[in-house]
Amino acid sequence: MTSIADIVAEHEHREGPLLPILHDVQKVFGHISEDAMRDIAHALNLTRAEVYGVVSFYHDFRKEAEARSVLKLCRAEACKARGVDALVPIAESQSRVKVEAIYCLGLCSVGPAALVDDQVYARLDSARLRNLLEAM
Ligand code: FES
Repeated sequence: MTSIADIVAEHEHREGPLLPILHDVQKVFGHISEDAMRDIAHALNLTRAEVYGVVSFYHDFRKEAEARSVLKLCRAEACKARGVDALVPIAESQSRVKVEAIYCLGLCSVGPAALVDDQVYARLDSARLRNLLEAM
């Protein structure tokens, strides 16, 4: 199993290693715990406040584990023009799925688009969204 030390070792020689480390920690553990922030700060010779500040600044980083699956639904202009607003109530009707807004996944011509974990979904309509929600 991958540890915080493994992730730090993979990135610590890069220029600006903190963000890649935080992304990988969240990817592996689902969130960035206080203990992880302390270990990362120690490894990079930063203060805990510096690491905490970065984790707090970026909304994609979570300090606590999310019990529900997260659906990030693109709410930017092209997806709005393609009808994403009508899909929001459908997505939010699932209590076991947390719906978050994201602004452009680079799939503007095939929106509405969504992101679940690292997988993108395009050309969403109510039927495709319901299938995706059932699969989550
Ligand atoms: S506006 Fe939604 S993917 Fe670009």
